[in-house]
This record gives sequence, structure tokens and C-alpha cells, in this order.
Amino acid sequence: MLKEKIELITAQGLEAIEKASVSSELNDIRVKYLGKAGEITALLKSLKDVPPQEKPAIGKLVNDVRVKIESALQAKMQAMAIAERKAIEEKERLDVTLSTKEEEQGALHPLTLVKNDMLNIFIGLGFSVADGPEIEYTKYNFENLNIPQDHPARDFGDSFYISPEILLRTQTSCVQARVMEETKPPIRIVCPGKVYRPDDDATHSPMFQQIEGLVVDEHITLADLKGTLEEFAKKFFSKETKVRFRPSYFPFTEPSVEVDLSCAMCGGKGCRLCKGTGWIELLGAGVVNPAVLDMCGIDSKKYSGYAFGVGVERATMIKYSIPDMRLLFDNDVRYSKQFK
Ligand code: DAH
Repeated sequence: MLKEKIELITAQGLEAIEKASVSSELNDIRVKYLGKAGEITALLKSLKDVPPQEKPAIGKLVNDVRVKIESALQAKMQAMAIAERKAIEEKERLDVTLSTKEEEQGALHPLTLVKNDMLNIFIGLGFSVADGPEIEYTKYNFENLNIPQDHPARDFGDSFYISPEILLRTQTSCVQARVMEETKPPIRIVCPGKVYRPDDDATHSPMFQQIEGLVVDEHITLADLKGTLEEFAKKFFSKETKVRFRPSYFPFTEPSVEVDLSCAMCGGKGCRLCKGTGWIELLGAGVVNPAVLDMCGIDSKKYSGYAFGVGVERATMIKYSIPDMRLLFDNDVRYSKQFK
């Protein structure tokens, strides 16, 4: 009778396992047959009442059913796990061939591109990049650059003053004064940065950017300046670009020069862009005034230097024939994107 009961339990158990479709059902089956109060557990317990001579045979039967149900449960469990994983994979499959919505992409501002280009050329020529504050003491913006108290550039109307001694710097030349005060020669730096002046028209903006250059060492002359700027102009504009020095005046350089480029549009013959002269004015430069070296703590008997200051907006306008500086500040992405 026990034997039949065992067979019945086996058949029912295996059938239930076969039919189960979710893993929670398998858990219920495990509890029903193998749990503390399960049917197979009960069979095992009832073995103690079996007559000793039948015990080995019945014991084996009970053990067999336990093994059968356990391995059937395990096999079904595995099959279910595989099927469930497949279903998830199927559901979450990505079709990588599907086209996506096009993302709008920004672009670096033309002035940033040009500034980076210019800096990279100077870095390639052995310069390192220096930095200084935009809110500056008049000492660095003027005094130490040999711009005395009564100089016209110091008029209140020409600068944004914060107090009589503090202003928004009007030129990156103040970084030279700071670097010379802190560093001993040889010095070979470029300093990019924003400068501020109360001008506003097609070729002037109250905020614009300059890159200042300074070299101080023994035996530096105007010829070194010319060689460096020629190399820069050829790399930044074109191989055909010629550089011309015109005498000029800056308090911090002696002699001072205005540096012109041969006009790229007409190749120097004279056209509308260069107003018939064949030349376009690019920047101011010169040999560092010995008075400036001395004021900044550098022995002018031993050392000499050259300096230049170039407008980033101006260089950009020349390079790309941009007629109005305000186009660069309108922040119209369609305009900026053209320079990518
Ligand atoms: N700081 C001058 C300006 O803003 C440009 C300049 C001229 C810089 C001559 C220099 C220089 O270093 O030597 O117009």
C-alpha cells in the first residue's frame, strides 16, 4: 500500500513540475513535497513504522522519489531561468541600425578658435603662456609701463575706473609688468586676455581680447622681433604674407613700431580692403624701453627685450575679411558655425 502511495506521489509530483510555468509555482511544489510538512518528508518519517524486513526496499523507494522530484525541480528551474533570460533579451534588444534624432552640436566661437591658433603658433616658437587679472592696479596698467600720470591714455574717459588706483585693464601689457617683476630673464611669454575701453563702433568694442608677447634676454634686438612676427604671420595668415615695420610711438617701447601685413586680398597691389595702400595694420610692438625694464627690477644694462600686443578680434577680422566687429559678438550660431 505504501508502495502505491509512493508511486502516486511520484507521478503527481512530476506532473505538477512539468506543468509549472513560473518559478513561484516550483517553490510551492518544493514546499508541498520536500518541505518540513511535505509529502515526501512525511513518507520518510513514516519509515519508522515499516516492518524491519521491508525497510530496505521501501526506504529505497522513498529515497528514489525524493531524488526524482529534486532533480526534476532543478532541471525545470534551470530551463525556466534560461527561458526567462531569453525573454528579457528579446524584449530589451536594441536595434543599432535604427536612425536617431539628429543632435544639435555647438561650435567653438571663432574668437576662441583664432586665439587658440595664435597661441599654438607662439607656443611652437618657444613661448609659454602667462596670465594676469582683468581688474588691475594703475601701477601695472600704466606707471610701470612708463605711462606717467599726465599721459592722455590715463584720462578718466578712456578707461573704466573702479577707483583712482584700480581699473579694468585697458591692455594686456600689464601682464608684462607683472611677469618682469616676478621673474628673472630669460623671459619668453605670451599673455592672452580680455581688455576694456569705452569705445563702441564697427571696429571697436568695449571689451576685446589681446595677446601680449614679451621676450627679455641678453642681446635681444628689433631683428628678433621682426623674425618672430614674420614667422607668426606666415603661419597664421599665409606663406605669402609679408611684414612691414613703420615707426610709431608707445611709452613702453623704444623704438616703437606699427606692424603691417601685405594685403591678402590684392597681394599688395592696393584694393578696397587695404584702402589702396597694399598694407593692413596688425599690431603695435617695439624694443622694451630700458626705463620699463629698470622699473620692473630688470637690469637694463645687461638685458634687453621686445614686446608686442595684438588684438584677437582685429586678427580675426583680417584673416576672414569680416567688415564689422559686432558680427563676432552677436552670438548667432549660424554665423559662428562657419568657422569650424
Ligand atoms: N598695449 C598696446 C595697445 O593696447 C599694444 C602694444 C604696443 C603692446 C606695443 C606692446 C607693445 O607690448 O610693445 O595698443
